[in-house]
Amino acid sequence: NLHRIAVIPGDGIGKEVVPEGLRVLEAAAATFDCAFHFDHFDFASCDYYQQHGEMMPGDWKALIGGHDAIFFGAVGWPETVPDHVSLWGSLIQFRREFDQYVNLRPVRLMPGVPTPLAGRVPGDIDFYVVRENTEGEYSSIGGRIFPDTEREVVIQETVMTRVGVDRVLRYAFELAQRREKKHLTSATKSNGISITMPYWDERVAAMAADYPDVCWDKYHIDILTAHFVQHPDWFDVVVASNLFGDILSDLGPACTGTIGIAPAGNINPERRFPSLFEPVHGSAPDIAGQHIANPVGQIWAAALMLDHLGEGRAAAAVVRAIEDVLARPEYRTRDLGGEASTAECGKAIADAICV
Ligand code: NAI
Ligand code: MG
Repeated sequence: NLHRIAVIPGDGIGKEVVPEGLRVLEAAAATFDCAFHFDHFDFASCDYYQQHGEMMPGDWKALIGGHDAIFFGAVGWPETVPDHVSLWGSLIQFRREFDQYVNLRPVRLMPGVPTPLAGRVPGDIDFYVVRENTEGEYSSIGGRIFPDTEREVVIQETVMTRVGVDRVLRYAFELAQRREKKHLTSATKSNGISITMPYWDERVAAMAADYPDVCWDKYHIDILTAHFVQHPDWFDVVVASNLFGDILSDLGPACTGTIGIAPAGNINPERRFPSLFEPVHGSAPDIAGQHIANPVGQIWAAALMLDHLGEGRAAAAVVRAIEDVLARPEYRTRDLGGEASTAECGKAIADAICV
């Protein structure tokens, strides 16, 4: 089974953690009888912008649109390019043009990782956030009238389409159905946001009828954030609109220790376009070039990618290897209180992969 992967390291620590992800993918391929062909691209980076005056070449869609997946590091170097230019010129284009309408983020407390939630042990925190990734609150519909006057008015609309809401809910219910607990939680705010959010609730209830074996509930986003901190063991699959999902999918990993280990999949489930796998963190300019970045987020993203490519056994082996290595203090990077370099941690995980 040959998988063709577009590799885009981007900026900062993206260039340090992506090679560790590739190292682990090679080890997984050798162990599980599959193969990778990697095509490396230097665009979607601020270096590229400085040379070419744009984040990506005009034909970027043709260059990477035919690959089976995109393996992405991180983009952003605010010293040279403003963040909204680098992000909207690259990652946001991928998500929208490739219709990656699911942003999937596993939240899991790993052995050996200190959590800010007192008394929690691995097993207590093990859930997914499924975030709508293409519409909702993040629309470009709106504008400003009477700018820079006392009569200034600023409007930005939320867009929910039946197709857009139903397809992400279906993905979340299907995921819940495959899991042991078969439990879905919906994030809402239908008491305050009185048009779109009641619609979201209505579609959740309608979708639930198709999945009678999944038990489901809903919470308003405000109390839901409190429950994430106080009762993380309540959750299994949490589905949310674009804005609420954005917030929950940073809060979740924060509850499990370091942002350095969290992965994300930007997924087009129909596979009409390539999906993109990346760590949750950014380019970390404050530690870039020091070879101390934690590569686990990138490596776990590789596991999500393996799963998406139909290599479920290899994906599970990568997650097991991450758990094995994190349990051993000598391979922890500085953000976890250790002294290992990025490559030492990555090598240890690659070596720990077994059937
Ligand atoms: P960041 O995630 O890059 O860094 C936040 C803090 O976490 C920093 O102190 C950093 O050192 C630490 N950190 C992050 N990843 C780490 C790792 N793997 N190991 C150890 N420590 C780690 O977020 P920040 O500082 O807000 O943004 C920096 C740049 O990254 C900006 O240009 C921003 O736009 C971009 N960014 C890009 C993202 C992406 O490509 N998906 C996501 C978030 C930010
Ligand atoms: Mg975010």
